[in-house]
Amino acid sequence: MRQHSWAEPYKIKAVELLKMTTQAQRDAAIREAGYNTFLLRSEDVYIDLLTDSGCGAMSDRQWAGLMRGDEAYAGSANFYRLRDTVEEYYSYKYTVPTHQGRGAENILSQLLIKDGDYVPGNMYFTTTRLHQELAGGTFVDVIIDEAHDAESEHPFKGNVDIAKLDALVDEVGADNIPYVCIATCVNMAGGQPISLVNLRAVRAWCDQHGVTLVHDMTRVAENAHFIQRREDGYRDTSIKDIVYELCALTDIATMSSKKDAMVNIGGFLAMNDADLYERACALVVVYEGLHTYGGMAGRDMEALAIGITESVNDDHIHARVGQVEYLGNKIRGAGIPIVLPIGGHAVFLDAKRMLPHIPQEQFPAQSLAAELYRISGVRSMERGIVSAGRDSVTGENHKPELELVRLTIPRRVYTQAHMDVTAEAVQQVGQTADSIRGLRFTYEPKLLRFFQARFEPV
Ligand code: F0G
Repeated sequence: MRQHSWAEPYKIKAVELLKMTTQAQRDAAIREAGYNTFLLRSEDVYIDLLTDSGCGAMSDRQWAGLMRGDEAYAGSANFYRLRDTVEEYYSYKYTVPTHQGRGAENILSQLLIKDGDYVPGNMYFTTTRLHQELAGGTFVDVIIDEAHDAESEHPFKGNVDIAKLDALVDEVGADNIPYVCIATCVNMAGGQPISLVNLRAVRAWCDQHGVTLVHDMTRVAENAHFIQRREDGYRDTSIKDIVYELCALTDIATMSSKKDAMVNIGGFLAMNDADLYERACALVVVYEGLHTYGGMAGRDMEALAIGITESVNDDHIHARVGQVEYLGNKIRGAGIPIVLPIGGHAVFLDAKRMLPHIPQEQFPAQSLAAELYRISGVRSMERGIVSAGRDSVTGENHKPELELVRLTIPRRVYTQAHMDVTAEAVQQVGQTADSIRGLRFTYEPKLLRFFQARFEPV
């Protein structure tokens, strides 16, 4: 137990005014958006918990860094600063900037995956799996079973089940496994961490089988927070040191720097292998830009380098995850079912348990997200059957165990009072949940359908 209350380790220097909307305006807005919160206009949103991606607040130091942008086409000073920062904080020697995380995923998948390969990972992520499939690979989920159970309070639901890796290698052989891809603080599981003990076991498995270990490090600092709190022997280790230790266990990283590192756009592919770096440089010029900017402006690389240093500050990360925990506890206290333990970047409502009358084929989480917006102006996101998409071979819907609505907290943006209002809105929707109807598609895109799909009430 804390002895005293705590607060954010910053104060506010500039504010962005919000627009308030009426019930009638929101009724019209969600209908026009085809009941998809991705298709709402941001100016019609009151509290925007769609994502924590690219919508964090930069610090005054990061804004000052923008003025130091060296917008040279080749060899920008900011690139070298970014490269050195990645090596100092994340251990990886070579950095290839990309416009965002999926740019790095595209290059990595094209470089390492061949037709017919299998790519194990601790639960899928939408863009990551798609790039693996586009390169000819098949994603295989090797996360522990507890991760698929919203009610399990396992402290490290991001852990890998090594027996599932063994079963895969027995079935397909190590030659058909180009790499194992491990995410820290697994997004689709509810922002759930992997332990260092487990990551070391995965490292040993990869060494034994001669398989590369890739790290989706999008939320590595939040993972480090949970290691510091929950793993034996790390109570007195800094977030900075835990982050470094996590990264140093892996060979290659993909990063969406729009999350942990608090910039509005950007990402990178990082690695230690000089030959692979040369091949990545040859490919980044095709899809992103020259290898010293890869789709980022010089000023954005500078803001990113500064954001990395701020992201591993202990006070920052404790306030960040603390705010998510605050919201989660309020919602849970109101009797609303959520994914436990409360995750690092978001609170996930369990739509399956909130709307037991809506079958999964009628998209309960999509319906719940639309209704939460309609009632309150709070924008959230579906993370269930719509996000899971269809099997690329059979065309059947993937049917995930987890049917969730994600309330994602942007970093350094909202106050505790905004969290109170959000919790009240969720409680209000919970009280009338049995009147919510399911949805059906009026338009279903082929790839990453959740972004642009449109629906109507059943
Ligand atoms: N990996 C993870 C774990 C992510 O959460 C994301 C993005 C990406 C990769 C792709 O990065 O968006 O920069 O291309 N997640 C966002 C979200 C979109 O809302 O969860 P990107």
